[in-house]
Amino acid sequence: MSVAPRPSILSIDPYVGGESKIPGVNRIIKLSSNEGAFGPPPAAIEAITRAAREAHRYPDGNATALREALGARFGLDPARIVTGNGSDELISLLCLAYGGEGTEFIMSAYGFMMYDISGRAIGSRVLKVAEKPAPEGGGTVADIDAMIAAAGPRTRIVFLTNPNNPTGALLPNSEVARLRAGLRDDILLVLDSAYAEYVTEPSYDPGHGLVDAAGNTIMLRTFSKVFGLGGMRVGWGYAPADVIDVLNRVRGPFNVASASMAAAIGALAEPGWVEKSVAHNTEWRGRLATALRAAGGDVWPSHANFLLADFGTAGAARAVDAKLKTRGLIVRGMGGYGLPQALRFTVGNAEECQLLIDALGAPSDG
Ligand SMILES: Cc1ncc(COP(=O)(O)O)c(C=O)c1O
Repeated sequence: MSVAPRPSILSIDPYVGGESKIPGVNRIIKLSSNEGAFGPPPAAIEAITRAAREAHRYPDGNATALREALGARFGLDPARIVTGNGSDELISLLCLAYGGEGTEFIMSAYGFMMYDISGRAIGSRVLKVAEKPAPEGGGTVADIDAMIAAAGPRTRIVFLTNPNNPTGALLPNSEVARLRAGLRDDILLVLDSAYAEYVTEPSYDPGHGLVDAAGNTIMLRTFSKVFGLGGMRVGWGYAPADVIDVLNRVRGPFNVASASMAAAIGALAEPGWVEKSVAHNTEWRGRLATALRAAGGDVWPSHANFLLADFGTAGAARAVDAKLKTRGLIVRGMGGYGLPQALRFTVGNAEECQLLIDALGAPSDG
C-alpha cells in the first residue's frame, strides 16, 4: 500500500516543459521555452567559471551581493528583494505561505500554469477566470472586472502575468492598478513580470510603482528570459517588508546556488545586453509574425519574446508542428493551456528565426 499524498496533489497535471528532442533528428532548434535568444551573457559564463573554484562553500544565504546588484540596477531597496531558485520557487513559496486547504487563488484562464500547479499542491482551490478579447485586436487579455468579481472571502492570492505567457498580451498600468484597487487589502496581488525587459511600451511599469504605492503586492522577475540563465535558476521578488519577511521564513536557507548568483550578477553587468536583446527581439518578432500569418496563423499581439499563433483547428496546428519537427524545429503546443489550435513560438537568434520562417513557408511533406 502506497503512502497517500495530500488529495489535491493527485488532481495536478504535471507541468510539461518545452520539448527538447526529436527522435532521429540531430540538429534541434529549441523554440519552445522562451529562453533568451543569445545564450548566457559572456560575463555570466566567466562568473560561473570563477565560482566553480569555490563550489565546496555554501552560498551566501542572504544573497546580499545579488540583492545589492539588483537594487542598484533597478533603483530598488535591496532589503525588500528576495531571491529564489527561479521565480517558480517564489511562486510555490507564496502559495505555501498564504494558501492551503480552504483558501482560493485567482488567475486568468491563460495565465502561467505554475500558479495552478503550485496552488493545488498546497490544497488551495485555483479559480481560472475567463479572458476577454484584447482591445488592440486579436487574442485575449485578462478580464480585470471578472477577476475582481471572482474574489471571495476565501481568496488569498490573485496572480497576474504581465506581459502574459503564453499569449503575449500586455495590460496597461492603469488596468493593473485597477485590479489592485478592486481587491481587498488582505489579498496578495502577485504581479509576474517575467518578460518585463522585452516590453518596449514606454509607460510600462513592471510593478515597482504599484508595490510601493499599494502594498500587498509582489513583483516577480527572472534571469531565465532576457538574461539567458534559465539553467541557473534565479528569480527574484520585490515586495513590502512583511511579505519579504514571510518568504525569508519559508525558503530554504541556501535556496540559490553560489554559481547561479554569480552568473546573475555577471549578467546584470554585461554592457548593452538587454538593449541588444530587445532590439533583436522586436525586429525578429515582427518578421516571424508576418511568416506565421502567411502560414495561416492568427497571430496574437505579443509584448514578449514569443508569439502565439492560432491555426483555427487542433489538426491544423498539429500539421504545422509536424512540418517544423521534420526540420528539427521544436515549438510549444498549447493543449495544456486549453488552446490546442494554437502554437507558441519563441524568438530565437537570427539563424534560428530564419530557419523557422523558411520552414513555415515550405510546402508540407507528404
Ligand atoms: C510568466 C512566467 N513566470 C515565471 C516563469 C518561471 O521562471 P523561472 O525560470 O525564473 O522559474 C516563467 C517561465 O517560463 C514564466 O513564463
